[in-house]
Amino acid sequence: MSLPLPYYNDDVHSFAYTTVRTRWPLIMNRAIKDIGDAGFDGSDIIIAKFEQLIADFKLDKQLLPFTEAEIEIHSPCARYNNLLGNDGKKWLWLTAPWLYSECYLYVWMHLRFKESSNSKWHAYDVFANLKDSTFLQSLLGVMELCLRYTALTDELKAHAESVDPKVIEALFVEFIDISLWGNATDLSLLAGKVSLDDIKALQGAEVRRKNQDKILANDISEAWSHFRAQKLRRVDIVLDNSGFEFLADLILALFLLDANLASSVHFHCKELPWFVSDTMIKDVDLLLDQLEDREFYADAHASPQASANLAAVARRARHYFQEGKFVAVTHPFWTFADNYWLLGEQGQLSSDLRQSGLVIFKGDLNYRKLTGDLQWEKTTPFKTAIQQLASSSIPVLSLRTCKADVVVGLKPGVAELVAKEYEAQGNEGEFWASSGKWAVVSFSSGQ
Ligand code: F6P
Ligand code: MG
Repeated sequence: MSLPLPYYNDDVHSFAYTTVRTRWPLIMNRAIKDIGDAGFDGSDIIIAKFEQLIADFKLDKQLLPFTEAEIEIHSPCARYNNLLGNDGKKWLWLTAPWLYSECYLYVWMHLRFKESSNSKWHAYDVFANLKDSTFLQSLLGVMELCLRYTALTDELKAHAESVDPKVIEALFVEFIDISLWGNATDLSLLAGKVSLDDIKALQGAEVRRKNQDKILANDISEAWSHFRAQKLRRVDIVLDNSGFEFLADLILALFLLDANLASSVHFHCKELPWFVSDTMIKDVDLLLDQLEDREFYADAHASPQASANLAAVARRARHYFQEGKFVAVTHPFWTFADNYWLLGEQGQLSSDLRQSGLVIFKGDLNYRKLTGDLQWEKTTPFKTAIQQLASSSIPVLSLRTCKADVVVGLKPGVAELVAKEYEAQGNEGEFWASSGKWAVVSFSSGQ
């Protein structure tokens, strides 16, 4: 079977088109401001390179192979060079395949800090301020999640002897739902224009309840049946965004351990600042500190009850990290431009993931990589779109709010209905899939 083409940056029907022309320059200009504010020596050199790249987008310059010196600094650049122009064409910023060029961009930015002669830039996360300020503004959602967790802990304790399996299943579905909609807060989509109202509109139980019919394909029952029949009780979460989304994932993970559904949870983080808001290992530690920090969340800590709830989540998570039941890991594969079809052939990483009863992939970019970011018909089965991964013995559960064009696994007619609904709200209907208003929960047992 021949494969569909990928999404390209010059497709006016794709979200790629505005991404390259509007969102990337916005993201990079915000980064330039933060680099200037950081004030370490050498900022002028980095800023000049960022400005040149923004100009290169407009001039439709070619994506150049990474140099030997760059490969020396960051060895995955060699892998990027192998893929560059693999359709026999010159890849230019305004016409290249979207997925590759967007991943290339984040590696390119990373290199500008790593190559600086001032080592203060080497571990600098150019998106850190933005991550922090968004998490700060997520206070109401954070308080609500921590309250839900502590209430749940009390319920589980009260029924420790005899929790009805139906209740456990319902809770599993609820915490998966929390983790799913946690993905609706995404900094690269908001591209720096984050208001408190934007964030409130995306977080909270009330929002989730209203959004039930926005999950257009939902394999959660199949995932649950598979998982509860497993001997392997380890769960892996291939994380997406830090801050509120990571907290939602952490709450899911706490529930899985507290309810004895899992024996351990492995969190897969990014090695470098990635798609603005993605979780690096240092963001895991930072989140626990921020929950407990009486100055960071001063309003929450002013209330003894809310303060106790935030502290309880942080304490419990720290306890599981200390016991080795929570593990935060990283691997270069997650910041390659490669899709995930050959995830079963990645040596140690693949054998590691085969030790898992369930590998949860969070968010939009992971979904684009699972499906190759190809222009699949929207009725294509998920297991077809993930190709060899469907028979890799890796059980895949993807929780994704739709923020890019590729969507599969829908029943006939659903995409058309949703496009009409989106159009009736005053938008261009065909862009429903990148609006972040709908979601999919897709499962493959790996067999
Ligand atoms: O659609 C906008 C976008 O930046 C995509 O490029 C990317 O796939 C996605 O957002 C990132 O979202 P998430 O954080 O959910 O992976
Ligand atoms: Mg992300």
